[in-house]
Amino acid sequence: MKHATAILDGKTASAVTRAAEELSAGGLVGLPTETVYGLACDALNPQAVASVFAAKRRPSFDPLIVHARDLAHAITLGAFDDTAAALADRFWPGPMTLVVPRQCRHDGEPTVPDLVTAGLARVGLRVPAHPVAQAVLRASGLALAAPSANRFGAISPTTAQHVADGLAGDLGLVLDGGRCSRGVESTVLSIQDGGVAVLRLGAIPVEQIEQALPGVAVTVRRPTSAPGRSDETTGPLPAPGMTDRHYAPNTPLLWVDDLDAWNPPETTGPGRPRNGWALITLGEPRPDDARFTVARSLSLTGDLNEAAANLFACMRELDGLGMDGLLAVTVPEQGLGRAINDRLRRAGNRG
Ligand code: TXA
Ligand code: MG
Repeated sequence: MKHATAILDGKTASAVTRAAEELSAGGLVGLPTETVYGLACDALNPQAVASVFAAKRRPSFDPLIVHARDLAHAITLGAFDDTAAALADRFWPGPMTLVVPRQCRHDGEPTVPDLVTAGLARVGLRVPAHPVAQAVLRASGLALAAPSANRFGAISPTTAQHVADGLAGDLGLVLDGGRCSRGVESTVLSIQDGGVAVLRLGAIPVEQIEQALPGVAVTVRRPTSAPGRSDETTGPLPAPGMTDRHYAPNTPLLWVDDLDAWNPPETTGPGRPRNGWALITLGEPRPDDARFTVARSLSLTGDLNEAAANLFACMRELDGLGMDGLLAVTVPEQGLGRAINDRLRRAGNRG
């Protein structure tokens, strides 16, 4: 069924009630979280979950994150060892996803269906902090499976309008909770044998996770082909669905570490737009740099939190300008900078 997407103010009780009703009936709702907007459904209803994959046009079934209202709720869905419990205590509600063994019901069947975990024995769980997400979780009483509310491979949405634009025709309702304060997705951690593997860099920096777990080994896994820090291990794709190329604008995006060493490519094929190159950088946007017709700063003061919050919206805005290409300069590999660089590298190619 094709329908226009209604955007309702998520701060109103009537919008929250309507969202809860829609979700209880097996429908889909776009919901704000502190990271990005999610495309939510009842996680325990396989038909509803299937319609999320259909709306996202995912070519295969990747595991979805299940959102719970609090730790007590999450424990009904997954099994928490001491390490997982310590992390939940420290970072929930917040932008952290814990991948833990699925909890089983009395009949021995897992609480969370296979379709949600893509057949894996473990489930990714998160308690979001955003008040609108919390209100809907509580009003519905449901566990909500919610991938980012964009089509497969596209840029994650950080406003309600991004969701409505991106999923037009496949979604009836989005709750507006303003612009996402974090702007990059949750940090995904796998807890196994007392150790912690970072499956996806995200809104909680690795340094904070290490600080919270003195004496526990924290390793960062990344796909073999993705560049990164020398202290990261490589291997098979650590988290299913973490394809190298992701979060991509339609305009070619290149990234460089050193802006001064880069020059725009000479050739632009026939039929290509000739609007020149756009620069995405941190700090001074360099208005006088002749190599660029447009320049955007993710944060004038070089603040990495602000930069993360602006990243996806900036990529989207520039993507709409018909540029020859977007050139992004990587940011310092520390704190949230690692997640920002991870998203830039997945969105583009080395310049
Ligand atoms: O911030 C976020 O995490 C957002 C908001 C909406 O919560 N959600 C999000 O979901 O980014 P999505 O579907 O775009 O990314 C989920 C990723 C998967 O691609 C996979 O890498 C990892 O989380 N994941 C989820 N469940 C997993 C599992 N059981 N095992 C391993 N990785 C899992
Ligand atoms: Mg996503």
